[in-house]
Amino acid sequence: MPSQKVFNTKDDALYTASNGAPVKEPYAAERVGFNGPLLLQDFHHIDLLAHFDRERIPERVVHAKGAGAHGYFEVTHDISDLSCAAIFNKVGNRARATVRFSTVGGEAGSADTARDPRGFAVKIRTEEGNWDWVFNNTPVFFIRDPAKFPHFIHTQKRDPQTHLKDADMFWDYLSQNPESIHQVMILFSDRGTPDGFHNMHGYSGHTYKFVNKEGKWHYVQIHLIKDGGFKTFDNEQAGKLAGENPDYGIQSLFETIEAGKFPSWTVYVQTMTPEQAESFRYSVLDLTKIWPHKEFPMRPFGKFVLNENPSNYFAEVEQAAFSPSHMVPGVEPSADPVLQSRFFSYPDTHRHRLGTNYQQLPVNAPIVPIANFQRDGPMAFNNQASRPNYQSSISPLKYRAKTYNTSNHELWIGNSYTYLSEITELDFEQPRALYQKVMNDTDRAHLVHNIAVHLVGAKSAEVKARQLSVFAAVDQSFSDAVAKAIGAPTVKPLKVKPASEAIPFRHNIGKQ
Ligand code: HEM
Repeated sequence: MPSQKVFNTKDDALYTASNGAPVKEPYAAERVGFNGPLLLQDFHHIDLLAHFDRERIPERVVHAKGAGAHGYFEVTHDISDLSCAAIFNKVGNRARATVRFSTVGGEAGSADTARDPRGFAVKIRTEEGNWDWVFNNTPVFFIRDPAKFPHFIHTQKRDPQTHLKDADMFWDYLSQNPESIHQVMILFSDRGTPDGFHNMHGYSGHTYKFVNKEGKWHYVQIHLIKDGGFKTFDNEQAGKLAGENPDYGIQSLFETIEAGKFPSWTVYVQTMTPEQAESFRYSVLDLTKIWPHKEFPMRPFGKFVLNENPSNYFAEVEQAAFSPSHMVPGVEPSADPVLQSRFFSYPDTHRHRLGTNYQQLPVNAPIVPIANFQRDGPMAFNNQASRPNYQSSISPLKYRAKTYNTSNHELWIGNSYTYLSEITELDFEQPRALYQKVMNDTDRAHLVHNIAVHLVGAKSAEVKARQLSVFAAVDQSFSDAVAKAIGAPTVKPLKVKPASEAIPFRHNIGKQ
């Protein structure tokens, strides 16, 4: 973190008012005589109260509870054939990084061990600007149509009338939007309750593109695999800790780093050529799906290490502002509609939460100089001095052209589809493999139990039956086991269109 030189952080610092003037007695307010009213001239006292009144900034609308730390990203393998990002130009290159881990649905004071996906947001300070990895700890997500995001989130938050979390809302939404099932099953496995923030993997979930200096591009997915493995709690351990130590995640991260046991991850990339994407069984733009490792092997390229605790939580974690749109040359977005919507949402919410000049806050400021035509606004600390605020002919800013040609992949599929949530049999294949092949008997028993203790809280028989029909579409025995555990009648699988009716994924290059 860049140091804030203006603040004296030494223990023997002299107490001052915010204008720097020494103050004789911090606990005294100036008043008229011994019993008279207070004086408006007492800048110190008024400023003290006025600042206190404004101490809170809005909490994040999602991912409000979190923990952060600093460390570095290091390139361990040459992937310059994939991306021309400057950070990849030499094995051994290192960049300082900041991470913020979070739960998603709860408020800023909620329990760290709640059943929830975990956010895994990393800001990598490269010589070509900041590259943010705004990832989760699950490889897939609940939606593939961004229009659903606010609705979906509302059902995980509090009921408008009772101000309570509501199992009916929760399952009502999920049962009506079965493309969520893959993520729901991961969430209700013990992976939904990780042991601390630093004992889990991180996944881009979305498809991005890496472009090399010849302009050749690949679709990519990035994975951070925790050295030492993904550690989880079972439902009962997590529930107990939520009561006993709701800040378990923050505390264990801080203490682990303080003890010098620096958490580390190996970073991998999966790659897919555009041609492969056209014959891939699923759409590369559908983040409810994973890319099988056998078909698309994991290629290691980096190491991510956390070795420094923040010295000030608010300045270095709460004010951190991540966005998937913070990318560097050599990394490009895919046309995933959810990713594209996120590009709008994050900077937009930062302007609201932190202010127009959020990129100038020390934790967000790039390590490279900024030169553009943005000026003024609240708290413009780096207002670019006397540089003209337009492209002047007298002292023009230089532009760096893109070193590669992207025109061959800026075209996209021609037909326009507005309904991205059409459900077909394709949506159940990977969840079925997860249940039948990846999970063992214990995993399956925990999954059923973890779902049952939540679903039983839904009052509506219709909602329960509908969610059971989604489970049945995955595997009838899975649904029946949940039905038995909640004392509900068994149901038949949800009827869905065959896989052959899924919208095919095709590029439009040369096809229009
Ligand atoms: C946080 C929106 C999907 C990962 C947030 C925030 C918003 C948001 C508004 C609060 C940011 C802040 O106040 O600083 C959305 C929208 C989505 C979406 C509109 C879909 C349309 C996703 C997905 C992932 C993800 C798919 C992961 C693959 C995160 C993470 C944070 C976050 C890690 C916390 C960042 C931090 O620690 O500051 N999201 N999100 N989100 N989101 Fe999303």
